[in-house]
Amino acid sequence: MSIAIALDGPAGAGKSTIARRAASELNYIYVDTGALYRSIALAALKKGIEPDDAAEAEKLLPEITVDLAFNESGEQIVLLNGENVSADIRTPEVSMAASKISAIPAVRAFLLDLQRGMAKTHNVIMDGRDIGTVVLPDAQVKIFLTASPEARAGRRYKELVEKGMDVNFEDILQDVITRDYNDSHRETAPLKPAPDSVTVDTTELDFEQSVEKIISVIKENL
Ligand code: DC
Repeated sequence: MSIAIALDGPAGAGKSTIARRAASELNYIYVDTGALYRSIALAALKKGIEPDDAAEAEKLLPEITVDLAFNESGEQIVLLNGENVSADIRTPEVSMAASKISAIPAVRAFLLDLQRGMAKTHNVIMDGRDIGTVVLPDAQVKIFLTASPEARAGRRYKELVEKGMDVNFEDILQDVITRDYNDSHRETAPLKPAPDSVTVDTTELDFEQSVEKIISVIKENL
């Protein structure tokens, strides 16, 4: 049987960078489920569909395909209708649209089998919002990774500036707060710690300390 580590938590808690590193040390596959919601958001934006228009979003789903692939360094690639959109889904506009479109139950249902299928065929660290609660309720280890909104906005700001984007810290902090609210108040699969999860707060931890902490929680709980 394959091993599944569920890693949930709010935007910008460092889930993706920490999980990527932990997965490579443990020789697991890292699955970033946010990228799947982002690719549907991108498809909606391209078609001029409002990301909170459930009826239009539902009509869009049968017209698109979303797949995951891995390149030779083991990095995840998201394919929207067969096209690699891994870079296009990383803009603040897509972040906000993903937060809205992911509240639509049909969108969540559309992505469920893809996520479960990955965990059936590989040892995974899967990062998202509802992995421990909905997608993989039987995951052997569940971690809820969090940090203060200011710390999370600061990290996202740095990341975007390093990519050469012209962004403003206050806007990013507001985005973080709005997305936290959207993600934790939606009716379907809201962001919340699974009752059997271990919470790890990275506000005061640097990257190396966070990775060490996650790996030790995984090893202690396997
Ligand atoms: O992790 P991220 O920031 O790339 O996720 C983008 C959006 O997708 C986020 O606002 C919440 C949503 N999401 C979700 O609802 N469920 C998941 N398992 C992963 C992401």
